[in-house]
Amino acid sequence: MTTVSCWSAKGGSGTTVVAVAIATLRGRESEHGALLVDLAGDCPSAMGLPEPNGPGISEWLAAGDQVPADALGRIEQQVSEQVALLTSGRGAIEGIDRARELLDALGSEPRDVVIDLGRLASATGVVSEVAAVLAAGCDQSLLVTRPCFLSLRRALASPVRPTGIVLVTEEGRALGRREVEDIVGVPVVAEVPIDASVARAVDAGTLAMRMPRGFERWLRHAA
Ligand SMILES: Nc1ncnc2c1ncn2[C@@H]1O[C@H](COP(=O)(O)OP(=O)(O)OP(=O)(O)O)[C@@H](O)[C@H]1O
Ligand SMILES: [Mg+2]
Repeated sequence: MTTVSCWSAKGGSGTTVVAVAIATLRGRESEHGALLVDLAGDCPSAMGLPEPNGPGISEWLAAGDQVPADALGRIEQQVSEQVALLTSGRGAIEGIDRARELLDALGSEPRDVVIDLGRLASATGVVSEVAAVLAAGCDQSLLVTRPCFLSLRRALASPVRPTGIVLVTEEGRALGRREVEDIVGVPVVAEVPIDASVARAVDAGTLAMRMPRGFERWLRHAA
């Protein structure tokens, strides 16, 4: 099994959509299914699920040592035959010691693990330490970005270096795949166009259930 983290340098890049799609594809293909870990809070909605009201990662992180790592198994939700979801919870994603424990627990999972880390860069350079530990510790750390110089500049200032880029392309941009690879210094592992079928599936909450065929093909090499 492998651990994959998805993160962005600017909001609205397509990170949640890519994370949900990779988890869905991994779930179908891996013997043990996939676990999607949401640190950014949008995964349930992107999967057409109701707003979660139980404890999530933030509560587990805040609980400290009295709550063991295997309690994670009790707060996850099986959302389809192949995919389980660990929701973000309601509090802040804080607690650096527990972050390492979380990474170890996810690393010893028999399932493929996909983490939506949200934004991992900011204008001031300050980012969630927990998210940074998870991004740096995953087998694959995917920067999801538009071919936008401001996003790429922020990504370079992030404390985490990605292992690959998922490039969400749109018409009219001056930067192409080659320029993006040159700027960030890591390969583009998938190019995903902005496409109405994807936006509609997200809005209808059907992305995980009925993924647009094109989207599956574009993402195939990402993870
Ligand atoms: N390939 C795509 N084609 C069309 N629309 C897309 C695509 N990817 C994402 N979107 C749309 O773009 C918007 C932002 O996507 P998403 O929420 O995944 O970004 P994000 O990086 O997770 O944002 P945030 O920083 O808020 O977490 C959503 O409306 C989504 O439906
Ligand atoms: Mg998101």
